[in-house]
Amino acid sequence: MPLPVPFSPSAVVSALRAAGCVFAEDEAELILATARTPEETAGMVDRRAVGLPLEQVLGWAEFHGLRVTLEPGVFVPRRRTEFLVDQALAAAPDATVVVDLCCGSGALGAALAAALDGAEVHAADIDPAAVRCAHRNLAAFGGRAHQGDLYDALPAGLRGRVGVLTANVPYVPTAEVALLPAEAREHEPLAALDGGADGLDVLRRVAAGAPGWLAPGGCLLTVIGVRPRA
Ligand SMILES: C[S@@+](CC[C@H](N)C(=O)[O-])C[C@H]1O[C@@H](n2cnc3c(N)ncnc32)[C@H](O)[C@@H]1O
Repeated sequence: MPLPVPFSPSAVVSALRAAGCVFAEDEAELILATARTPEETAGMVDRRAVGLPLEQVLGWAEFHGLRVTLEPGVFVPRRRTEFLVDQALAAAPDATVVVDLCCGSGALGAALAAALDGAEVHAADIDPAAVRCAHRNLAAFGGRAHQGDLYDALPAGLRGRVGVLTANVPYVPTAEVALLPAEAREHEPLAALDGGADGLDVLRRVAAGAPGWLAPGGCLLTVIGVRPRA
């Protein structure tokens, strides 16, 4: 049932709890702190109640100490992917050119740009909504976002110059997409999740193309799911 306006903070908690939100108090606090009007709060509660990921409802996600702007329909950056950023910074602390392929919201590129003062940062994604978010998230650091299929999106002048190449690609095997939580299945694009029959379709293409774009000594960092052996 929609939240009637006006309402008390405890009514927000109750509405979220009734919708099955396990962390109703925490979510209510974030919604109340983010919404600018009671109507906006009610709208956020309604969207959360029908299952949208909290970060898409809020319009932002926390990632590596940054508040990353997020649109509905764009992959929610996972906190566990902060590890990839830390690994990239450890491997190439002085990198001057960074590319984040399959960038989604641009969270990885923004985190790297924030940490690598003055680095030239490019992010790319095939999805226009993701590129819009990445553009907003990178602009504060002078970074750029491009739209297109993997390396096709990048300016040719980056060839052979990339010190850090990150790529959190879609890696869920097609047959396992149905096993993902509803929040992902129903509210994140299939193209952000489905990695083909063995989950490696996109990653194979990223790995095959990397040597042409990396600088000597540059590195490619990625993420992959590992299935326990039966
Ligand atoms: C798992 S999400 C990761 C997003 C972001 N890197 C993050 O960690 O939050 C994968 C992203 O890859 C993008 N993608 C899928 N296939 C692509 C392709 N062929 N070229 C560029 N981007 C692609 C999707 O649109 C999605 O945004």
